Amino acid sequence: MEQQKYRILFVCLGNICRSPAAQAVMQRIVDEHGASGRFELDSAGIGNWHAGQLPDPRMRAHARRRGLELTHRARQVRESDFDRFDLIIGMDSGNLADLRELAPTPEALAKIKPMAAWIRTMATRYDHVPDPYYEGAEGFELVLDLLDDACSALYADLTRINS
Ligand code: 4NP
Repeated sequence: MEQQKYRILFVCLGNICRSPAAQAVMQRIVDEHGASGRFELDSAGIGNWHAGQLPDPRMRAHARRRGLELTHRARQVRESDFDRFDLIIGMDSGNLADLRELAPTPEALAKIKPMAAWIRTMATRYDHVPDPYYEGAEGFELVLDLLDDACSALYADLTRINS
């Protein structure tokens, strides 16, 4: 029987730090499970300031140390994303509020979820994925730790429902 394909869009403010990292972390998990045919992953930003750019060099350097190459080119969220994707995952409360403003229908609104909904091991301390842009190295490491945690739980959730 053909299985449902999940289309997931990760969203942050600039689409150069958190959301392209989330996309790459999730893609690795999907690939490790041999499930790349069952998922379509992308990321986008609330703003368009960095459109066309590779992720921030600091984010790329920290990701590379974990064996992740970030090759996504930044783009802004668009209304058609609410049709194309099944899940639209925001990194913090500002992203979520902006996404809810953009959602054209109640069905679109229902697709918006916080990344923090899947944070498990660090849940007592983090109810969002903090913006690392004005932080030091530890801010970028924290983002990657939170995303490893959350994306593992997200994958487990979706494949349980689907299997
Ligand atoms: P991101 O980080 O939302 O995780 O991509 C940021 C990137 C750029 C800016 C803010 C946050 N900015 O203000 O340009």
